[in-house]
Amino acid sequence: MGGTDSHCLSVSSYEITQNEANEMGGSMSDTVEVTWDTSFGSSGCENAFDIRRKTFVDEQGVPYDEVFDARDKEAIHIVGRINESAIACVRCVDEGGGRWRVGWLATHQELRGKGIGTQAMRLAIKTIGEHGGHEVVLSAQGTAIEFYRGLGFEQCGASEDLPSGFTLTPMHCTLKN
Ligand SMILES: CC(C)(COP(=O)(O)OP(=O)(O)OC[C@H]1O[C@@H](n2cnc3c(N)ncnc32)[C@H](O)[C@@H]1OP(=O)(O)O)[C@@H](O)C(=O)NCCC(=O)NCCS
Repeated sequence: MGGTDSHCLSVSSYEITQNEANEMGGSMSDTVEVTWDTSFGSSGCENAFDIRRKTFVDEQGVPYDEVFDARDKEAIHIVGRINESAIACVRCVDEGGGRWRVGWLATHQELRGKGIGTQAMRLAIKTIGEHGGHEVVLSAQGTAIEFYRGLGFEQCGASEDLPSGFTLTPMHCTLKN
């Protein structure tokens, strides 16, 4: 996989408050339309990397070199955009044998709790299924375990404490395709 292939998966609408609209740069109505695209490889999804960097490097303090790696070039990236700004992203990596790893799921800080992260994960799972995947694995931060459970994931190993202070819990779900 590689190159710049990119196509629109879907468009979805979310309600926002006036405060959120102001935080997002103003001049938005009470509904925002998010366009969901999929990109193969890193080209064409630079602004997805921007939301990943803001979320994990700036907000959570994860070292930059851990947040970006060579697998970005081989991955499928799901990106949610409002106009041209990326507001959500998730990365899907083929680990072989039908197993795919999902990671770096992020929603813009001002837009959380509206179902955007759920939609990003649903699209990731759907895309993985369309590529022949039959198992999706991920490492969940403690705060996100319930979120992933709600999407059908189950814990599949012992949690690991990282030197950075994060605890990651392995989770998986089997796709019925
Ligand atoms: C995790 C994340 C992507 C979820 O995105 P989102 O757009 O807020 O997700 P949704 O609106 O679809 O949330 C669905 C539900 O999960 C809950 N939830 C999601 N993330 C949560 C978190 N980090 N802590 C607690 N609850 C969370 C929401 O409250 C919501 O519950 P509700 O439907 O009962 O209200 C977002 O919180 C985020 O970007 N967090 C920072 C990055 C991160 O931690 N990523 C996951 C790494 S494993």
